[in-house]
Amino acid sequence: MSSLRPIGVFDSGIGGLTVARAIHDLLPEEPILYFGDTAHLPYGEKSPELIQRYSTRIARHLVKSGCKAIVVACNSASSNALQAIISEVGPKIPVIDMVTPVVKHLSHNCIEACQVGLIGTRATIASGLYHRCFNDLSSNVELISKATPLLASAIEEGFFNDSIPQAVLDAYFSDNTFNNIDSIILGCTHYPLIKSEVKNLLPSRVSVIDSPSIVAETLKSVLTEIEEIEHVSNQLEGHHFQVSDLTENFKFSARHFFGDDLTLEEVVL
Ligand code: DGL
Repeated sequence: MSSLRPIGVFDSGIGGLTVARAIHDLLPEEPILYFGDTAHLPYGEKSPELIQRYSTRIARHLVKSGCKAIVVACNSASSNALQAIISEVGPKIPVIDMVTPVVKHLSHNCIEACQVGLIGTRATIASGLYHRCFNDLSSNVELISKATPLLASAIEEGFFNDSIPQAVLDAYFSDNTFNNIDSIILGCTHYPLIKSEVKNLLPSRVSVIDSPSIVAETLKSVLTEIEEIEHVSNQLEGHHFQVSDLTENFKFSARHFFGDDLTLEEVVL
């Protein structure tokens, strides 16, 4: 692994790779240590207690591995385990979640009333965290949310660029819940992989919020503030990918995002 302190990024599986890629694009000199908890996915169907147990274990591992910041690249973990992760990590290492930066971004950009759709896993939607965060900011956003539990597993199975997610989305969107929205949050880090299928079902005026880029921007500001930005050219060889169960799907997806030349390792925590 690189001698520079990496940015720790984790998810239940491949979804967080969408965030890791956005971080790499914005901060190409920063090495990333990615952990995909493939042995325990889907997180979206687990209880908050179990999501907390898995997430804190991974956070502990990332801190022990020398990470200088932790990105919780999973909405289900961000919504159900953030306080537990922050307590585990301690005050010296910043923790960036998927919900807060996106809520701030939308609230900032919504001057008059806006209707925003949210799709995510059962665990994310049931937590109500997005709603609470918008309320806490006295935002003008009216949030309309819907759990879309079949999607993450289908994507994890490699069904993206495929007719299956389109059919599943058709079924979820058929009740016209999202008829009047101005924008939609893909509230699961797996969903950017089916962004075009979501767009197909919505009027062209609806903007699809790019959560991975917003989170990467937040990470950059935090690292700049604590003066932890790298200025040494590091490129891809600095990245390291670990999973709790090394599956063919994960290998395929990691290569889809980062090319063939990457270090993949199975680590049982
Ligand atoms: N990618 C994860 C999220 O953002 C969860 C998918 C899952 O494991 O259910 O919620």
